[in-house]
Amino acid sequence: MHRARYPTFAILSRQSLRRPSAARISIQSTILGCQRKLHTTPAAALCQSDMPKRKAQTGLDGSNGHSNGAPKKEEMKGLDGTTDLPPADGPHTSQNAWSGPGPAAFDFRSDVVTTPTPSMLRAIQNTTLLDDVFIEDPTTNSLETYMATRTSHEAALFVLSGTMGNQLALRAHLTQPPHSVLCDYRAHILEWEAGGVASLSQALVKGVMPSNGVYLTLEDVEKNVKLGDEIHGAPTRVISLENTLGGTIMPLSEIRKISAFAKKHDIKLHLDGARIWEAVVAGAGSLPEFTKEFDSVSLCFSKGLGAPVGSILVGKKAFIKHARWVRKSIGGGLRQPGVVTAAARVAVDETFGLGPNGEGGLLKASHVMAKRIADLWIGLGGKLSKPTETNMVWFDLEEKGWSDQEVAELGKEHGLRLLGGDWLCIIRLERRLWSAWRKF
Ligand SMILES: Cc1ncc(COP(=O)(O)O)c(C=O)c1O
Repeated sequence: MHRARYPTFAILSRQSLRRPSAARISIQSTILGCQRKLHTTPAAALCQSDMPKRKAQTGLDGSNGHSNGAPKKEEMKGLDGTTDLPPADGPHTSQNAWSGPGPAAFDFRSDVVTTPTPSMLRAIQNTTLLDDVFIEDPTTNSLETYMATRTSHEAALFVLSGTMGNQLALRAHLTQPPHSVLCDYRAHILEWEAGGVASLSQALVKGVMPSNGVYLTLEDVEKNVKLGDEIHGAPTRVISLENTLGGTIMPLSEIRKISAFAKKHDIKLHLDGARIWEAVVAGAGSLPEFTKEFDSVSLCFSKGLGAPVGSILVGKKAFIKHARWVRKSIGGGLRQPGVVTAAARVAVDETFGLGPNGEGGLLKASHVMAKRIADLWIGLGGKLSKPTETNMVWFDLEEKGWSDQEVAELGKEHGLRLLGGDWLCIIRLERRLWSAWRKF
């Protein structure tokens, strides 16, 4: 059987994420390709071995491959029996969760499903364990200083998630209602953060549909911004951009125009840069070129970079001081975060890379793979619903007339964890799967 040198993966996602009713497939290789390069353990070999064999070991067929007392599939509620590792309180042998991609290699619901690498584990073993509420942990302080420098900002704050980074930023910028935030109508802060801007910042969020159908332009902003103190309106105090948005890059030139506009009108500019790394690696501009245009930026260490936990918020000293205060108020003051900040540093240096354009990092390989997958799909007569610019390939499923259910079932047949609903599933592309797809 033909196998690609590195694995190729697809995420199938329902486009109700962005536009209800249209189903799309998004292929992402992201950290998973990198993991395969990094992990050379028996677990990695297992991932590369025959799928049916793995199927039997992971309990996808209803059995459980372990004779060590690990629970059976039906007992593993919420996991759907797709782990091939013993539970954390079970017996530990030479194979543990760090020894290979593990279940993440076959779990394709999102690029948030990644497995930290052995070098992250080594960094965690060597980390410092002091208190961060007192701002005394050297590993955490060093990561914050490092990220401030790399993004050309004065200061940084480690936060537990991308959502926390965005919400703290907006809360710190938004001081006095009535006020509003302007963003793309598909933005994570509007659609995917549990209404946090309303509950935490009492702000109206105005979602704008880009007139070019791809990304917001200065003209879109000018048309929708609320300036002045007219009593019926909630003035725009923050413009929040997202880059990449669903794998699509917002060009630096447009960001510069919006940034100049925001400055002129004394509006804060925030970037949800959960995946800004991808835009950089795609060659759209260096990390500091992007980040210095904003008053604040939130960047994720998990997702494509593969760290187990965390994001970083960067901005001016006074802003970060305030965000730290708000973080404390919502229970985000951290005692010994060195265990996660150590891994985050490895994620930046090894997965993104040491240079401002991601030089020396692993992400670029995932973009190359995504392009290959896109070409394969087109070669098979498929269509893409948007161009492949970074690590995501969007298949037009609707055009093929495939249902979510059919694709999910197909994935299951091949031992892959695929999800119904918004994030439908991810598929590992291999010849066998392609032939199965042709049956549709
Ligand atoms: C663009 C974007 N921003 C923020 C987040 C939130 O990250 P987290 O899941 O760490 O809260 C996500 C999560 O997928 C995202 O896609």
